[in-house]
Amino acid sequence: MACVALCSCTSNMGKADFNVIPQPNNITVDSTATAHFILDKNVSIVHNGDEDMTRNARFLAQYIQEMTGIELSDGGDKVIKLQVGLNDENPEAYKLQVYPDSVVITGATPAAVFRALQTVRKSLPTTAVDAVEMPIAEIYDYPRFEYRGAHFDVCRHFYTIDEVKTFIDMLALHNVNNFHWHLNDDQGWRIEIKKYPKLIEIGSKRTETVIGRNPGKWDGVPVSGYYTQEQAKEIIEYAAERYINVIPEIDMPGHMRSALAAYPHLGCTGGPYDVWTEWGVTPEVLCAGNDSTMTFLADVFNEIMDIFPSKYINAGGDECPKTRWQECPKCQARIKAEGIVAKGRFNEFDRLQGYVTNYIYKVISARGRMMMGWDEILQADIPSDAIVLSWQGIAGAIEGAKRGNKVVLSPNTHCYFDFYQSKDVQFEPFAIGGYTPVEKVYSFEPVPSELDEEQAKLVIGAQCNLWTEYIKTFSHVQYMELPRLAALCEVQWTEPEHKDYESFKERIPAMFAIYDKYGYNYAKHLCDVNATYTPNTEKKALEVTFSTLKNREIRYTTDGNEPDENSTLYSGPFTIDSDVIIKAASFSNGVKSRTICDTINTNIASFTKATFNTVPAIGYAFNGAQTLVDGIMGGTTNYRTGRWIGFVGNNCDVVIDLGSEQSISELGFNCCVFQCDGVVDAAGVEIYGSNDGKEYSLIASEEYPEVVKEMEFATPHHEIKFAPKSTRYLNVIIKSHKALPSWHAFAGAPAFVFVDEITVK
Ligand code: ACM
Ligand code: ZN
Repeated sequence: MACVALCSCTSNMGKADFNVIPQPNNITVDSTATAHFILDKNVSIVHNGDEDMTRNARFLAQYIQEMTGIELSDGGDKVIKLQVGLNDENPEAYKLQVYPDSVVITGATPAAVFRALQTVRKSLPTTAVDAVEMPIAEIYDYPRFEYRGAHFDVCRHFYTIDEVKTFIDMLALHNVNNFHWHLNDDQGWRIEIKKYPKLIEIGSKRTETVIGRNPGKWDGVPVSGYYTQEQAKEIIEYAAERYINVIPEIDMPGHMRSALAAYPHLGCTGGPYDVWTEWGVTPEVLCAGNDSTMTFLADVFNEIMDIFPSKYINAGGDECPKTRWQECPKCQARIKAEGIVAKGRFNEFDRLQGYVTNYIYKVISARGRMMMGWDEILQADIPSDAIVLSWQGIAGAIEGAKRGNKVVLSPNTHCYFDFYQSKDVQFEPFAIGGYTPVEKVYSFEPVPSELDEEQAKLVIGAQCNLWTEYIKTFSHVQYMELPRLAALCEVQWTEPEHKDYESFKERIPAMFAIYDKYGYNYAKHLCDVNATYTPNTEKKALEVTFSTLKNREIRYTTDGNEPDENSTLYSGPFTIDSDVIIKAASFSNGVKSRTICDTINTNIASFTKATFNTVPAIGYAFNGAQTLVDGIMGGTTNYRTGRWIGFVGNNCDVVIDLGSEQSISELGFNCCVFQCDGVVDAAGVEIYGSNDGKEYSLIASEEYPEVVKEMEFATPHHEIKFAPKSTRYLNVIIKSHKALPSWHAFAGAPAFVFVDEITVK
């Protein structure tokens, strides 16, 4: 008690709280206790003295010093005790007990103690203080998933050893325990392989890079870089000290153009090849009929396994076009010799990739390791100990788990951190596309509802991916990772019943303070105003709801003027029923967020009742048919923002109830074209009218041209004028091209059609 009395007088006292990210799974804080643990220079860390605990203690002292400036002493009268011995089947489970004179951290393993230290670190104030008052508390915490991954592509752009270490520091702060290191791709080979020195001599260097999304212009700036095996080992050790496993990925048989540039005989045509200077998916892949390809792969994977102790070895497998294989006598001969035949949805060339996958599986498992690969590895009859990394949505995870394989969820719908994090892309650094805001990441549930209880146990975790085509600097890497990694780490760590987005938003400012402390660049969109627009069909108006982080006030205008601290204060949802420009920003201590701006354009169909006769594509239904009559256009070609509704291989067939008979003579809509993703213009439109909602007659129709290569990214507007017609119900069928044309990289695959708003005059 003497201590409590003494330290309460400390002039510069900070307060700790355990409102940390990820949310601990069980926490009891005694907020009524008058006594606290006072963390000051008289505290010492005690432990058993072994290597792990000595290092953990060093980390803890460092964290306390970094956060608060407090330097702990040896032999102080209060202690933080670090120990293992928690009897728990979860190896990362820990108990953290705060008493008036001690803090006791007991982990199931040293790794668990390290995770507990992250909780302590994040509970501390981030300003210099003489002492910190810690509430009396008891935490029992453990990760929901054993595999908590983060992927980093160092091929499209190269990052130094120090930057990779900082990336690992960021993972440690977020309790991530698997660093997935993407080490080769078409645009650069980044790891030294002693048996194949040209991989780095030639494969690690590209002469220049295409500007933007393949517009036919190059920047003339060479990109190069690689890690020696010694440097890779240094990274492995650095990560291991933070209880993070490094999973190497050698992506094959596609994404190998840099290896082909070095060793052209490994390709179907024999080359020559260059280290690719463009983005996308190249047809140049390893020749699956060539025996020296197999020897090369076995040699490379064996050297990789000499360097990396990881039990998981990633063999890639994604995006391997079969165009060269179809023309290659050696590949045909392999198919014949091995008796490879089509199976299910896979043709014989897909199954040829399966043959290569299984070959590498054997190389990896011969060394007692486990093969991991992107969901294309399902083209093979993979053995049940191969791990499927589901990136094309969650379908690969469902199929993998149903086949009995362990799966990791990394779907491009929620876990791709190279995607935009704001709808207002004009304010963002150029990105590959997509739209994955923090809230979307947070909402991700890794266990697909399609799995039964036993299959669900095969979901071992979740992972974010960072592809770096458009990310040239490490500061930009941080901007894309943070704070989305904070949202993901709660998905990875915290049980769903303890997750809550509103609570997360209250805890995120403390995380921002930590990012500031370490000089990490991070995105601040959570401070912006988040606007939700909901058509109210009864009132024929649009309901507007704003939100932002706590302790920020929202001010807005509806006349197009920039909001300032004197603009209307938002105090709750309101409605609008006419043409307006809404601008809103949040303010805190005179600091203004970015301004959001939305234009509402009304017409006869606005805020009426809309329903679909066809089902939107999985992941692209967003708020459904009402989006087509909410007065808001899609805007950019970013079809993932929720402002476009997508259909795949199917028409957009919508019924709009205008509420009463209206005389109409014009109908318009926009489509989104993002050709490389199979998102193309409409094939035509048919407009039917009805006054009873049962019997419809054709009002007008139009056909549009075939899909053309030249239209790569666009938002074509379609407008049809017709003789005035009186109608209450409108059935609008925006026709899909159904399949992609023969010249498209995904020829024959179902075509997407995306529509934003149907305007009626
Ligand atoms: C991937 O995004 N190609 C795995
Ligand atoms: Zn071949």
